[in-house]
Amino acid sequence: MGKITEALRKAAEDRLERIDKITRIREHKELVIKKIGDSAIDPRLVAYFDPKALITEQYKILRTNVLSTSAKRPLKTLVVTSSVHSEGKTVTSLNLAMVLAQSTQKPKVLLIDADMRRGRVAKYLGVDHKTGLTEILSGKAELSEALFHVDLENLAFIAAGAVAENPAELLGSETMKRFLAEMKTQFDYIVLDTPPIVSVTDSGIIGALADGVLMVIQAGRTQRGIVQRATELLDQSHCKVIGHVLTNIEYHLPEYIYRYL
Ligand SMILES: Nc1ncnc2c1ncn2[C@@H]1O[C@H](COP(=O)(O)OP(=O)(O)OP(=O)(O)O)[C@@H](O)[C@H]1O
Ligand SMILES: [Mg+2]
Repeated sequence: MGKITEALRKAAEDRLERIDKITRIREHKELVIKKIGDSAIDPRLVAYFDPKALITEQYKILRTNVLSTSAKRPLKTLVVTSSVHSEGKTVTSLNLAMVLAQSTQKPKVLLIDADMRRGRVAKYLGVDHKTGLTEILSGKAELSEALFHVDLENLAFIAAGAVAENPAELLGSETMKRFLAEMKTQFDYIVLDTPPIVSVTDSGIIGALADGVLMVIQAGRTQRGIVQRATELLDQSHCKVIGHVLTNIEYHLPEYIYRYL
């Protein structure tokens, strides 16, 4: 974790330097990168702050790979999960949703925080949005009260809402099925961030409703046996695992933080 923090700090410094440079060069104005200092959004959402950074390019490669895995059936709904906690699911979901929204066709993208136990999507986005999936699924709120945006107009979010007492039941309910079906009519892509599968069944339940499941694995920490167990659990839940994302690849970090301008 120390390495990524250091790398992101360095990336933030580089960005500020480039902002200075860009504001001095008029013809490069279209490349303007957002300043982190005046934003509540977490700097780890690199795709938001710096769509042309090399680290964002990695998320774009992930976008290409995700979309090309589903030649037979167009992928609309994607669940992001992992074996255990803190492997990078939420950061991956957010950056992936952002690069999907930044595609040239400007598709309508929805990111749902389906981690109804310790959802962090709103926190990463720096918003205090209390109405979310829990309220929608328990009939306490309308969709319009839960949907929110940051300044990417074709990307919408639904936060987790209040910590649910019975997340597995809510996620497995007919209401959830109807809600997801309705969202599929309104959005081109739906990314669902979920809790880890070895700890709780939620991502298996929701993964079975989705077109594909992306499994995040933290390199150097999560043991092979645990990943195998997670894979078995997803299989048993009839999820289609379309790929894996390795986070915390130390030897890539130095290259990630430089960008061509
Ligand atoms: N690609 C990456 N490489 C290295 N570290 C990463 C990467 N993506 C995320 N992280 C780091 O991993 C930690 C956990 O990230 P995140 O909150 O996304 O995990 P999570 O799997 O959603 O956790 P939880 O199980 O608590 O929901 C953070 O410190 C984040 O900076
Ligand atoms: Mg998370």
